[in-house]
Amino acid sequence: MKALVYQGPGQKAWTEKPKPALQQPTDVIVKVTKTTICGTDLHILKGDVPAVTPGRILGHEGVGVVEAVGPAVQNFKPGDAVLISCVTSCGKCANCKRQLYAHCSDGGWILGHLIDGTQAEYVRIPHGDNSLYPIPEGADEEALVMLSDIMPTGLEIGVQYGHVQPGDTIAIVGAGPVGMSVLLTSQFYSPGRIIMIDMDASRLELAKQFGATDTVQVGAEDPVGKVMQMTQGLGVDVAIEAVGVPATFDICQKIVAAGGNIANVGVHGKPVELHIEELWIKNITISMGLVNTNTTPMLLKTLRSGKVDPARMITHRFKLDDILAAYEVFGNAARENAMKVILSA
Ligand SMILES: NC(=O)c1ccc[n+]([C@@H]2O[C@H](COP(=O)([O-])OP(=O)(O)OC[C@H]3O[C@@H](n4cnc5c(N)ncnc54)[C@H](O)[C@@H]3O)[C@@H](O)[C@H]2O)c1
Ligand SMILES: [Zn+2]
Ligand SMILES: [Zn+2]
Repeated sequence: MKALVYQGPGQKAWTEKPKPALQQPTDVIVKVTKTTICGTDLHILKGDVPAVTPGRILGHEGVGVVEAVGPAVQNFKPGDAVLISCVTSCGKCANCKRQLYAHCSDGGWILGHLIDGTQAEYVRIPHGDNSLYPIPEGADEEALVMLSDIMPTGLEIGVQYGHVQPGDTIAIVGAGPVGMSVLLTSQFYSPGRIIMIDMDASRLELAKQFGATDTVQVGAEDPVGKVMQMTQGLGVDVAIEAVGVPATFDICQKIVAAGGNIANVGVHGKPVELHIEELWIKNITISMGLVNTNTTPMLLKTLRSGKVDPARMITHRFKLDDILAAYEVFGNAARENAMKVILSA
């Protein structure tokens, strides 16, 4: 089969690999019908994620059709349409029992990281019963791809960990696919004001179409001064970091209101300076974590009922065979006005 293979920092190829085979009785082999590229794949390609070794097939998002199931698989059979979760989980260990699937003792984020991923014609999904979801009849497959990673990430690590409440003023720093997922899912909780902060004017424009009430363009405006002015010097109830650099975490610590929350979603490669000398007196909470995908069933219901339309984030479509061109577009997202790309088999 063909697959997108990591060949060391800066190197990748769309090349021939053996089709995956069942290894464990709980495995499911899925024929990938639609997949996408994540910002995390770009981090891997830069060499920022050393756990990924040359030869690894990338990708942790997608939908497909079950090709084969191991003898212990109970919930799926060949021919079933499935959504692939970016987090693999056994459903049985102590962490899975408390829905901390990100820390499953035999799973977590391993797809396209520690085992071969979804940017291929076929993928092996360990613990298929718990790591796959049946696709509802007639569902929009492209929208479903947004439920593999970015939508649960935004909802769980941004909105739920940040405890967004009705009427709140919230700020989202970073208007990439993850920040946009925070924006879409925060609206389940009816915040009064949603301030989107980014340096990319076209992403901020899109954010307004997605429900942001205010935008702040870093570079052209001082984000801290502007947010404090907008909030009469009080700051925001919830500040959500969706970039992963010290500068944006810093904005969050400076704009959080007394009694508020900072929800860090970004993956950080460098330490940040925590201004505890200013924050200790403000009764704030700071949260962070890896997505568990425990909200996937809820997101599937909101998708089916039309309460949310994550397909609005899709800006480009390619054939899976043209994945190198898709990487070129996604890797230059600002220049190409790209948000999410869909790759179809
Ligand atoms: N916690 C988790 O489980 C989890 C899961 C998935 C992704 N992530 C992380 O979430 C983060 C966002 O992912 P993404 O795919 O949306 O990334 P992205 O790179 O597409 O988007 C980041 C956005 O931040 C903006 N930005 C960059 N520097 C900025 C600055 N100084 N001030 C304001 N805006 C700035 C960029 O213009 C861009 O729009 C990444 O760090 C990613 O690794 C975390
Ligand atoms: Zn991802
Ligand atoms: Zn487990």
